[in-house]
Amino acid sequence: MSQMHPAAAEGVSPIRREHDAVFILDQRRLPFEEVWLTCRTAEDVRRAIAEMAIRGAPAIGVAAAFGLALGARQLPPVSFAAMFQALAHDMAQARPTAVNLAWATDRMRRIAANALANPHLDHAARLSALDAEAQAIRDEDLAMNHAIGRHGAALVPRFAARKTRILTHCNTGSLATAGWGTALGVIRSANAEAPVAVFADETRPYLQGARLTAWELVRDGIDVTLIADGAAGHLIARGEIDLVVVGADRIAANGDTANKIGTFTLAVLCAHHAVPFYVAAPTSTVDLATPDGAAIPIEERPAREVLEVFGQPIAPAGVKVRNPSFDVTPGGLIAGIVTERGVARAPYRESLRAMLVDTAPGLV
Ligand code: MRU
Repeated sequence: MSQMHPAAAEGVSPIRREHDAVFILDQRRLPFEEVWLTCRTAEDVRRAIAEMAIRGAPAIGVAAAFGLALGARQLPPVSFAAMFQALAHDMAQARPTAVNLAWATDRMRRIAANALANPHLDHAARLSALDAEAQAIRDEDLAMNHAIGRHGAALVPRFAARKTRILTHCNTGSLATAGWGTALGVIRSANAEAPVAVFADETRPYLQGARLTAWELVRDGIDVTLIADGAAGHLIARGEIDLVVVGADRIAANGDTANKIGTFTLAVLCAHHAVPFYVAAPTSTVDLATPDGAAIPIEERPAREVLEVFGQPIAPAGVKVRNPSFDVTPGGLIAGIVTERGVARAPYRESLRAMLVDTAPGLV
């Protein structure tokens, strides 16, 4: 991977593809520097995902698809089938919790298998089919986010005398998706109708809220106040938050939702204080094959993310660390799950299945 700056003019869209490279905005360097990584191989992209140069469930799905389309071009036609399967397998392992990664790699695998089975397609046509599928995954994500934004904005209560105050966690914006965002897309869409006031959790240990959400919203001129994660309960208890909206990395069949560590805490606070708690995610994040939250794999990340901030130690050497990157919010604490197809309500086992199976049988 090398560094360059090819697409700063495109705004915060975090990824783009060219014939022989995938460009990724290195989110580890934000908000201080806008540095683009040039990934020349599928392995470069896999590493960028694993090391969180790009992160956010939909964005890593898009990156994986672009990475596989790129990697396919470097495989010898004679052993393409087996080698592409191996590339896709490795890519899907880069991070375990966000189901969008497996969802996108499965889509690419299916295209490769169908293209190989089609006697009318030559190798160049197979590669074009993979390019087109990766671009479709990216374009569909952007369209889904705008639809999520529209459905979610309709849930935002309005007040004559003041702005609605919305709390969010982690980063679910343009940086975490193909653009616009999921929970942050809801906030963007609501703000376009009438300005809102956003409270962004800093989101320790990786600081997605402080570094990324605050950066996106300040850049877009949206009213944002950064708070320490531990301050959320205080503000909610004092009636200073009207609703909470967060994203998701995997939504199980019963509505249990894995999202950035600290999300569950917010949901419990909201239940205690009768503040609506919404999840916003595309249907690519819903995993009907995972029955409930207990079956969702939870990524544990390196201790150094907790022990250090920007490389500076903040704890004594030798202390033990746990660093679970996600937690699971039971569906029972979620007021609604906003997808591009509408708002699913409890009981989620029925509503999610109806949303996915009835409207798109191919998705299940
Ligand atoms: O570890 P990250 O930064 O990839 O975690 C991201 C989140 O938890 C987001 O809330 C989730 O992926 C939704 S992004 C639209």
